[in-house]
Amino acid sequence: MYSPFSEIKVEIFGASHAPEIGVGIEGLPKGKTIDVSKVQAFVDERKSGFNPWSTPRKEPDEVIFLEGIENGTLTGKRVVAVIKNTCQKSSDYSEYRYTPRPSHADYAALIKDGEKADLAGGGRFSGRMTAPMCIAGGIALQLLEKHGIKIGAYVSSIGGIKGKSYSDGEITYEEIENAKAKGNFALTKTEEMTEKVITARRNGDSVGGSVECIVYGVCAGLGDALFAGTENRISASVFAVPAVKSVEFGLGTGFMAETGSAVNDAFCIKEGKIKTVTNNNGGINGGITNGMPITVRVGIKPTPSISIPQKTVNLSEMKETEIIIRGRHDACIVPRAVPGIKSAVALAVLDLMAEQRLL
Ligand SMILES: Cc1cc2nc3c(=O)[nH]c(=O)nc-3n(C[C@H](O)[C@H](O)[C@H](O)COP(=O)(O)O)c2cc1C
Repeated sequence: MYSPFSEIKVEIFGASHAPEIGVGIEGLPKGKTIDVSKVQAFVDERKSGFNPWSTPRKEPDEVIFLEGIENGTLTGKRVVAVIKNTCQKSSDYSEYRYTPRPSHADYAALIKDGEKADLAGGGRFSGRMTAPMCIAGGIALQLLEKHGIKIGAYVSSIGGIKGKSYSDGEITYEEIENAKAKGNFALTKTEEMTEKVITARRNGDSVGGSVECIVYGVCAGLGDALFAGTENRISASVFAVPAVKSVEFGLGTGFMAETGSAVNDAFCIKEGKIKTVTNNNGGINGGITNGMPITVRVGIKPTPSISIPQKTVNLSEMKETEIIIRGRHDACIVPRAVPGIKSAVALAVLDLMAEQRLL
């Protein structure tokens, strides 16, 4: 699967229950240093098992760099890195060839790939594919940091419980990092959100939520109008994360019930620089960054695989039937989607920087 970028080409390969998953990245700036231990630490952030409700699939997810980085420096050639899959239990998935799981990709994959469809562990549609995305993201984050750009991401809601959002006022990068250091996936109400997930899990159900991502230190002038817009490019990247169903910028859908006088971002001068008083447009006007932080809110659906009986169709008998899904599934994937979303945003911004010849 290839990225929708113009300068940085990212290919994610493998599948959930294949021997390995991995990533190839072309177009990275030769000679820049990369701390591979920091990339590993970032990949580790997405691992299952850090929440009380998480799926029991626990794997070391050791990143093996095959080419493109030598002595901690980008060689200018394609970077290739893989992660071995060590915890496959494919027998859990054979029945979905005949009775596809509602809201999962089983039926769509069978239509697309026919007999050779790989549904084991969710195949190439699995949330596990965000692990190689995080390898590329971990590299992108380090390269962006060399240009003073930092990206923070956190859970802003789960199951209707709303934590602190950038819509409530300014959020600093340090605030996001401090919450993470304390083991909180949200800036506020982590415990209430956790309770919501535990209740859903107890009922054999699942819950969705939202993740917010803020890009700090990005210069004005990235992106362009119409199809070349910064929003277009970031959205195309973020939708690569499975279970993402909406992407909005700044106030997003909040604009719909508002008046211009209430939500227009007035210009001002701060420390000699042109800024806006509010940032309802999420740092982007006309598809071009305006120098304010880029703010993105991502909507994630409830985990499709739930153990409550659901209606489906037996495809071989062409009969409506019921399915009860067993096996290893998170009652909420929102916190685990955070590093994937951060990676997707980082890669899109890196690509926009490369396009402007700023790397
Ligand atoms: C980190 C992560 C973990 C996921 N884990 C599961 C899971 O355990 N069970 C499940 O049914 N879906 C899981 N998903 C969601 C499915 O991969 C996704 O819903 C499915 O591929 C269909 O794609 P769509 O929701 O984008 O349409 C996960 C997604 C992510 C990002």
